[in-house]
Amino acid sequence: MTAPHALAVEHLSKSFGGFRAVHDVSFHVATGEVTALIGPNGAGKTTTFNLVNGQLTPDSGRVLVAGTDVTGRDPRALWRGGVARTFQITATFPSMTVRENVAIGVMALAPHFWSLQRPASLSGSATDALLADVGLTGMADLLAGTLAYGDLKRVELAMALANAPSLLLMDEPTAGMAAAEREALMTLAVRVCKARGAAILFTEHDMSVVFRHATRIFVMSAGELVATGTPEAIRRDPLVREVYLGKAAAP
Ligand SMILES: Nc1ncnc2c1ncn2[C@@H]1O[C@H](COP(=O)(O)OP(=O)(O)O)[C@@H](O)[C@H]1O
Ligand SMILES: [Mg+2]
Repeated sequence: MTAPHALAVEHLSKSFGGFRAVHDVSFHVATGEVTALIGPNGAGKTTTFNLVNGQLTPDSGRVLVAGTDVTGRDPRALWRGGVARTFQITATFPSMTVRENVAIGVMALAPHFWSLQRPASLSGSATDALLADVGLTGMADLLAGTLAYGDLKRVELAMALANAPSLLLMDEPTAGMAAAEREALMTLAVRVCKARGAAILFTEHDMSVVFRHATRIFVMSAGELVATGTPEAIRRDPLVREVYLGKAAAP
């Protein structure tokens, strides 16, 4: 028997009022695989992410994480179950240090989080390991609010990895960054996730980043999955060119 996929979505659909934001979408992400979900604005990418991490409940269809049906579970339960997420808008605490920001994620997973015990001793080494992985050891005692945007994104990555995820969802992780920074952040995310055995599903508008890092790409348009394939196949797919890539993919 083969190992279950990190993620499988089966016939997912979600409407808002009468509007079909996501319609009959199915795909899988293998264990440790790096995949990208692309498509024009309004295609349904963020809604799909929200369905996968429990922010939204599908009207129909199923979400399986590591072979377990998690459809309808809330984000907290999914987070404990190994689904991590970064957001388009950075969600860090500016008046706390970098280490404290990352420690919150580590502590939240510890069973003693809600007791009066100091959890620092439980979480210290895990926090330090995460800080080292994303190259922030030297900035650990700085207030997050004083960091440059690219460094904050690394704090957020370390926070997201605190639950030792099997799947990391990154919705436009490089929004607002310069081209060189975008490349550096994704290189770091892929390296750290590979080392930890975590699969990645990310959305990204910079096609050079998508083609360089994703081993498979899922293309959405108007709520539907219109293509799945390797970067080479997606680059050549005439339908994909039509719905999304346009002139950017022309030879
Ligand atoms: N909560 C909501 N209520 C109504 N419409 C929504 C809601 N969330 C998303 N939509 C609509 O669903 C479509 C897909 O949105 P979204 O998933 O955010 O697309 P993407 O992330 O690909 O840009 C858009 O037309 C958007 O306006
Ligand atoms: Mg979106």
